[in-house]
Amino acid sequence: MENPFKFGILVDNEYFTDRINELKEVEISLNSANHLILISPRRFGKSSLIAKAIKSTGRPCISLNMQNMLSVDDFASKILRELFRLYPMERIRHLMTHFRIIPTVSTNPVTNLIDVSFQPVVNSIVLLEDAMDLMEKVSKENKKLIVVFDEFQEILNIRKGLDKQLRSIMQTQQHLNYILLGSQESMMTDIFERKKSPFYHFGKLMHLNKIPYDDFREYISVRLPVKEENKLKNIVEEILSFTYLHPYYTQQLSAQVWEMISYENLIDGVVGEAISKIVRTHDLDFERLWLNFNRTDRSILISLSKGINPLQNRQVATSTSFSGIKRLMKAGFVIRVNDYEIEDPFFKEWIIRFCI
Ligand SMILES: Nc1ncnc2c1ncn2[C@@H]1O[C@H](COP(=O)(O)OP(=O)(O)OP(=O)(O)O)[C@@H](O)[C@H]1O
Ligand SMILES: [Mg+2]
Repeated sequence: MENPFKFGILVDNEYFTDRINELKEVEISLNSANHLILISPRRFGKSSLIAKAIKSTGRPCISLNMQNMLSVDDFASKILRELFRLYPMERIRHLMTHFRIIPTVSTNPVTNLIDVSFQPVVNSIVLLEDAMDLMEKVSKENKKLIVVFDEFQEILNIRKGLDKQLRSIMQTQQHLNYILLGSQESMMTDIFERKKSPFYHFGKLMHLNKIPYDDFREYISVRLPVKEENKLKNIVEEILSFTYLHPYYTQQLSAQVWEMISYENLIDGVVGEAISKIVRTHDLDFERLWLNFNRTDRSILISLSKGINPLQNRQVATSTSFSGIKRLMKAGFVIRVNDYEIEDPFFKEWIIRFCI
């Protein structure tokens, strides 16, 4: 039998739980003239939610991750590559006649994917303008193109001033729905909420939370092959109190527990065994990470592992702790839901076992 828990890939259908209101919100936004900005820490389920909502509209969509853009040229060619994937060349060729720089388009015989490249140019923003203009032109009123830019905060790192240029292009477009995703909360809020930012109030801001306790409890309970009700209840509670309802890690731990119950017939102590197994698997990575942290970072992580607010640690100046927390949040090791917490519960467990 296939493991009923999935992690590390987009989830849909029977692997997708809750998010009813969020799904509705995304769908409403896609049916309007507004754009959507969706923020959450990594692996909370942004992509899965968006993919599900988009699928339900039946509309075409291109999705690009800003983290993968090497330059503005690269950004423009990736937009075109996606458009060529979606629309047959014969249908859009005539829309490209006004392109100021004509791209070279070829099919890679090894990957069978389309490659798009440009001659080197002085002002690469024209490439982006033309590419984005093409998105607008191929989009149809009754089947508007949806454009997803993931890890959107990375535009600030592609080239200085690109945010302003991008905004002025997007401002003139009327036939597209943009969805901008980001996992760096502070940078994303800065981009969309700071009055002086070009993207100030660009669209509807939505924060994705963890999955509610009752939903996850039900989701796991019906999938674990444990007949004794009491034991099942305890196992599920143990899983959720360890993962703090984090969508990805909850699925990961549940998958491991399911495997141990199904193949090793282990029920008593199964959650502890599953945690140990996952921690052991990542031992080397965790150690490498740990060695790269400075003393302040380590002390913050140790405080958090013990359930202590690092800002109340008297041995470290508050300002030092604060900038340390900010740094750790930017790198994704610490997230803030209600309080600060270590993003990966298995890393936290590793710290508790080996560093305290
Ligand atoms: N609605 C859901 N129900 C159950 N599990 C979910 C749900 N959404 C996400 N997950 C779990 O979280 C994992 C990560 O989801 P997803 O890739 O959609 O998140 P993300 O926020 O886009 O992540 P990233 O930051 O890596 O882009 C999934 O593989 C799945 O295990
Ligand atoms: Mg994603």
